[in-house]
Amino acid sequence: MPRPPSQDTLNELKAAVGIGSWFDAPADLEPFVVDFRRLYRGATPLVLLPRDTAEVSKILAVCHRDEVAVVPYGGNTSYCGAATPDESGSQIVLSMRRLHHVRRLDAANFSMIVEAGCTLAEAQAAARGADRLFPLSLGSEGTAQIGGNLSTNAGGTAVLRYGMMRDLVLGLEVVLADGRVMSGLKSLRKDNTGYDVKSLFIGAEGTLGVITAACLKLFPQPADTATALVGVDSPQHALDLLGRLRCTAGDQLTTFELMPQLAVELTVKYVRGVANPLGQEAAWYLLIELTSPNPQENLAVLLTDQLQQAAVDTMIKDAMIATSIAQAMAMWKLRESVPEAQRHHGASLKHDISVPISSVPNFIEEGSALVHRLVPDGDVVGYGHLGDGNLHFNVSQRPGADAAAFLRRGEPLEHAIFDLVDRLGGSISAEHGIGRLKTAQFASRADPVELAVMRDLKGALDPKGILNPGKVLA
Ligand code: MLT
Ligand code: ZN
Repeated sequence: MPRPPSQDTLNELKAAVGIGSWFDAPADLEPFVVDFRRLYRGATPLVLLPRDTAEVSKILAVCHRDEVAVVPYGGNTSYCGAATPDESGSQIVLSMRRLHHVRRLDAANFSMIVEAGCTLAEAQAAARGADRLFPLSLGSEGTAQIGGNLSTNAGGTAVLRYGMMRDLVLGLEVVLADGRVMSGLKSLRKDNTGYDVKSLFIGAEGTLGVITAACLKLFPQPADTATALVGVDSPQHALDLLGRLRCTAGDQLTTFELMPQLAVELTVKYVRGVANPLGQEAAWYLLIELTSPNPQENLAVLLTDQLQQAAVDTMIKDAMIATSIAQAMAMWKLRESVPEAQRHHGASLKHDISVPISSVPNFIEEGSALVHRLVPDGDVVGYGHLGDGNLHFNVSQRPGADAAAFLRRGEPLEHAIFDLVDRLGGSISAEHGIGRLKTAQFASRADPVELAVMRDLKGALDPKGILNPGKVLA
């Protein structure tokens, strides 16, 4: 069990990074003790800002010896409180933001080594500078850091084509709980030497080790892109179109996002500069993007043909294909502004779930019925990554409803939604992680043997329980 740090330990930790690389004044600590959604307010005696892996190693060696808890902290965009210290005031915060270098980019190998504190946008820009693509793409990419993306196995809007963060990793450098450095920054596509140890740290939310750098896969830059906003009557029609496009466009289908009418309405209402480009209203909207590195691919023609055929088959109601970059960007802004619009609208209950793609229409129908029954003062805003079977099945407080009463309905609703997810063979956390928020639900729903394996791994890699205690496995 970790314990509160003594003054000697705090002094030793400060010395490990040197003057200018730590905070302990209350005003400086403030941004590090509140999570993005303001669900938690913790406390910490010290924030450390190491500059390199050697300093992270020194810090963890001291914390391990003195049994002091450490909370790794990236861009603080977690929806589940994964990077926030608890209320005890005894957990040290380890900010990774000064480890922000691109160590090496090997264009011929289609790979780059970046440090954990690089923002996702910085990593994307580095790849672009070498005429390569780093394809992970999220609304929070300007703030979210690579270490956090790895630690939550982040997803986003291009998973359909490129996979999640785990799929984009070739190697990792990780500081273990006792300060030892695992130097696994290989840049190999093929390497069958023993267990895939790096994979353990991806999605572990800083509970098994602190990722300090990663070797990431790069791809060719797209040279042809076709983007469309499409209106459909039902999730089933959306699913039918997804299947058709996967068969005709193959890997060129990069994005297939679903939004209900209410999400579009709220976004147009609250977010400046957002408009609905479709001529008529639809019950559901799709943002679809095809990309190819071949500039002669004529993707706009392919997408137009497919959408025309889908209209003839009454699969879709309306569609607009972007004819300029500005139009495509406006469509993306509509999609990416949904979370912001929901924040402006009032309180919301969030469920980041996934089910087999074929079960999404069923999930939406049954899930919406649960919301109507259990949260009569809420409206479903269930949007997300249909191409991955991942919905942000959120519920927004209806205008004028009592926020406290609305929020009290969250727990029974969450149970009912997660029961439905379990029945459909889904996941209660598709891309946002477990953090602190979902530890109880995770523990009660995970396969007991798998959970026991996870606890064994935690015990083996962090025997003193100093790494991000209270997260994932509480
Ligand atoms: C998204 O897809 O927009 C995010 O993962 C969910 C959110 O920000 O609510
Ligand atoms: Zn998402």
